[in-house]
Amino acid sequence: MRLLLLGATGVVGREVLAQALADARVETLVAPTRRPLAATDPKLTAPLVRFDDLPADADWWRADAVICTLGTTIKKAGSRENFRRVDHDYALAVARLARAHGTPAFAIVSARGANPRSALFYFKVKGETEADLATLGFASLTLARPGLIGGEREDMRRREQIGAAILKLLGPLLPRALRINPSPRIAKALLDAAIEGRAGTRVIDSAEMS
Ligand SMILES: NC(=O)c1ccc[n+]([C@@H]2O[C@H](COP(=O)([O-])OP(=O)(O)OC[C@H]3O[C@@H](n4cnc5c(N)ncnc54)[C@H](OP(=O)(O)O)[C@@H]3O)[C@@H](O)[C@H]2O)c1
Repeated sequence: MRLLLLGATGVVGREVLAQALADARVETLVAPTRRPLAATDPKLTAPLVRFDDLPADADWWRADAVICTLGTTIKKAGSRENFRRVDHDYALAVARLARAHGTPAFAIVSARGANPRSALFYFKVKGETEADLATLGFASLTLARPGLIGGEREDMRRREQIGAAILKLLGPLLPRALRINPSPRIAKALLDAAIEGRAGTRVIDSAEMS
């Protein structure tokens, strides 16, 4: 199958990239990024793009499935507006272009607690992204909702580090839904769902990725 991956330089995206390259079911992988990818592979194409001005005519929008692992934080982005631009607008822009080119399946990393009516801005944006994606008419839509993501992170926030350490320690005692979601598990769930392309909307909750 032909896979299109957005966010290949991120914690989850790097895992999807590695797993997809090792997976014989994936014949070609296109991973558009804003900075060059270190990986090279005969089945990988990694065009450099500007997410504010995506190349609408690129033939690689036509794939069998898209996996979107784009995302930022309000702190990194500098404002709520900039955060929303990445986590909502870029995800929707990618989805619209893929849909317009006939791609039938879309899988995205959302977040546990995503809800368009949430009083918390982050979860509201994630919920709005999910809701807007659902209107685009993909035959198969997968919403993965991890809790705290475990993985190698250069800029790991102090609070996240403490949270991750506590969750790791308490891991076996916690209900599955509250445990850390290791990035390889999230990547595998996304990849399997994208390849399978099951009809309808599927939510993968954090318990299934712990
Ligand atoms: N961290 C958590 O514990 C947690 C929990 C639940 C859900 N999530 C969600 O899971 C998703 C993936 O998380 P992650 O930890 O893998 O994220 P990450 O490591 O920060 O990676 C984010 C990806 O998005 C790209 N990106 C960010 N800002 C961009 C911009 N302005 N223009 C173009 N590309 C941009 C990054 O590209 P560059 O490498 O070029 O920056 C990178 O490829 C996110 O949507 C996040 O909200 C995270």
